[in-house]
Amino acid sequence: MRVFEQKRIVLGVTGSIAAYKSVTLASSLTKAGALVDVVLTDAAAKLVAPITFSSVTGRKAYIDEDLWKVDDHVLHIELGEKNDALLIAPATANTIAKMAQGMADNLLVLTALASRTSPLIAPAMDGGMYSHPATQNNLDLLNKRGVEILGPAAGHLASGLSGIGRMLEPDQLLGHLRCWLGRNGILKGKKVLITAGGTQEPIDPVRVISNRSSGKQGFAIAQAALDQGAEVILITAPVALSLPIRARVIPVKTASEMAEAVFSESDDADILIMTAAVADYKPTREADKKIKKDQGGLDAIQLERTVDILKEVANSRAKKKVGPPVVIGFAAETENLLENAKSKLENKNLDLIAANDVSRQDRGIGSDKNQVTLIWKDGQTRELPVMDKSDVSDELILEAAKLLV
Ligand SMILES: Cc1cc2nc3c(=O)[nH]c(=O)nc-3n(C[C@H](O)[C@H](O)[C@H](O)COP(=O)(O)O)c2cc1C
Repeated sequence: MRVFEQKRIVLGVTGSIAAYKSVTLASSLTKAGALVDVVLTDAAAKLVAPITFSSVTGRKAYIDEDLWKVDDHVLHIELGEKNDALLIAPATANTIAKMAQGMADNLLVLTALASRTSPLIAPAMDGGMYSHPATQNNLDLLNKRGVEILGPAAGHLASGLSGIGRMLEPDQLLGHLRCWLGRNGILKGKKVLITAGGTQEPIDPVRVISNRSSGKQGFAIAQAALDQGAEVILITAPVALSLPIRARVIPVKTASEMAEAVFSESDDADILIMTAAVADYKPTREADKKIKKDQGGLDAIQLERTVDILKEVANSRAKKKVGPPVVIGFAAETENLLENAKSKLENKNLDLIAANDVSRQDRGIGSDKNQVTLIWKDGQTRELPVMDKSDVSDELILEAAKLLV
């Protein structure tokens, strides 16, 4: 998660019950390497003690009276001018109204007014307060001024009612914030298509042929591309992972659904990265009723080849001159890693292949770590050490961006 390293984030916290969730957000941002300056309104400080925030950030959490402490700098100007991002989460109806009017009567709204970066706000309030025309007008005004409004979500509210007004969850806010920080990254304006997960080929309504791919590497690559400002389309087979915020996700199940999604999205894509473990074979027919084990229908299953997605993309690129200028594949192998990866690179006319040895338990499939060797079509290779999948992804995305130039 390099995107947050040494980034100065001002986290404004206002007087909503959701303020307790901002402690988790402050903690996650700090763990990701950000320098988090929390600014609490008086109302927020009544709900969550500033020391809770300073304990997780390791930095002072500011309260309103800090504005009046004479120091060698003016606090709100310092916070406003030196931040890389200003996020107000939760943002009460009151603070939203003050910001819409350009009011500056507490340290937080004063900082927002003095900020060089345009604020992001995560409204949190009762459904009636949120839908009130006053709040809606204020949000419209802020939106027109370039303030990013994150959420709110629908669901259970502190009032005990259900409706729209819940603050987004800390992980979601983190996802929005990292995309926002990366908005001018090296892939700004580029469309990156990524496939992930293991396809499922149905035998009958309850059984499938699948593989052990977790989707973790593909999802991490999607996030790395988002961190560099790309428009990301993530075509994913079923996986148990949370979706990267701001990626356009196309869920698929079978190899042929994945192929269809790739073909329909790839003509105007700049980069295609195929990490999905696409089934090579599928049952020739799917039984329409569950096959009974005692009727012998499962003793032998007739299989046929699935469509070779990368080969089709390669053919389009070669013959029709359409398709992504950069195509990257993954070769998951258990033996003769480099040889097999090189022949896949050539057969499928790839620009780059990431070869990974999936025979080990401590890395590769299902693990959070991976060890890959990158091989370019001119024969150049680069062996990466064992790394977190997110770090492998950052490296791969940087290499993919270089191939675009
Ligand atoms: C327990 C409690 C919970 C509250 N929750 C919210 C809320 O979720 N959203 C909101 O807009 N106001 C909420 N309020 C009202 C605000 O705290 C109040 O409008 C306050 O003036 C906001 O000040 P601030 O915007 O400076 O933080 C709550 C008040 C209390 C006492």
